[in-house]
Amino acid sequence: MANDPNLSTRYQLGSLANKGALARLALIGVAILAVVGCFAFVGGWLSPYRLTQARMIDRFEQVNGVWPGFRRNHAKGVCIAGYFNSNGEGVQLSTAAVFRAGRVPVIGRLSLAGGHPYMADGPAAVRAMGLAFRPPSGEEWRTAMIDIPVFIVKDPEGFYEQLLASQPDPATGKPDPAKIKEFLNHHPETARALQIVQANPFSSGFANASYNGLHAFRLVNAGGASTPVRWSMVAVDPFEPEPPAQPAAQDKNYLFDAAIARIERAPVAWRLVLTIGEAGDPSNDATIPWPSGREHIDVGTLTIDNIGGEAPGNCRDVNFDPLVLPSGIEPSDDPLLSARSAAYSTSFTRRAGEPKKPSAVQTPDSGKGA
Ligand code: HEM
Repeated sequence: MANDPNLSTRYQLGSLANKGALARLALIGVAILAVVGCFAFVGGWLSPYRLTQARMIDRFEQVNGVWPGFRRNHAKGVCIAGYFNSNGEGVQLSTAAVFRAGRVPVIGRLSLAGGHPYMADGPAAVRAMGLAFRPPSGEEWRTAMIDIPVFIVKDPEGFYEQLLASQPDPATGKPDPAKIKEFLNHHPETARALQIVQANPFSSGFANASYNGLHAFRLVNAGGASTPVRWSMVAVDPFEPEPPAQPAAQDKNYLFDAAIARIERAPVAWRLVLTIGEAGDPSNDATIPWPSGREHIDVGTLTIDNIGGEAPGNCRDVNFDPLVLPSGIEPSDDPLLSARSAAYSTSFTRRAGEPKKPSAVQTPDSGKGA
């Protein structure tokens, strides 16, 4: 074979001596290297200290352990469904279909912040509401909100560091005060935000909690005018403060069980309220509240009339990515938004490929879902 005189003709080896062919081969080599380089860069192999979405999710797993099939944050939750009755007031600000007067089907999820799916409900856990508005003839809008008035970090790096700083010490089951102090020394914005959070008492349950989007977004109307807004789902159920004595010892799911009982008794409502930003209001820092005198516009009512266990195809398999936005709603320059979107995607990809275990929260129709 090696001495076959026809070999070089058959495989056109002679053409390799040709300068043009060599240049083409070199170009192909450069193109392959460029593609490999891009993968290496995106994968973080070239910059071991750069905060990537994979590293962010690795940190959740480092702190909470790996719970296959569950969200890496807000792991404990229950599915909800209902509808949003828009009163049409949002149309002046945005072309998004969700703001046109009428009814829009909604699915969602109530959850507790934290990466442990079997954690006990408790007064200190931040409560949350993820929603997907699905107008029959329009683009979907997703939002994931929490029941504190400001966020506690202003950028993804701060979030990454605070996850480790607040990791419970195995000896005490509580975060190490020295590590928290060290973190706060370097993050005065978190110390200020915590003061605001502590000044606002938690409500007694999921149904009478108000949930805040916290980030600024921009609404764009038919004339192209762009308005900075923040939004909140304001509870219609009257506020009652968290009782001082917690029944958690008897029922690890007391908050979820109360929400299930409440929604099964009668639908629960929230008002979607937009806060209109003015010049100088920070759009890139969710730790800073906007001045209290800002205009509020009530754009409609969310009604939740269905609650059910996480199951295949329902809220369990939705990624409530805050950047799934219809035209007419645009992101602001808040650096947390793209970091969240990227991290949620990695969490979703990991959990989607893992075997599933039942949620800690069981409803009468668990298995069928909301
Ligand atoms: C850099 C900051 C943040 C990171 C890295 C982060 C990370 C995550 C992750 C990994 C999930 C699970 C996603 C999934 O598997 O579907 C999640 C869920 C959630 N996050 Fe965040 N988060 C951040 C900031 C925030 C903020 C500022 C809010 C509120 C305004 C928020 C509200 C929520 C809610 C409500 C859920 C649960 C949604 C659901 O039920 O699927 N997060 N977060």
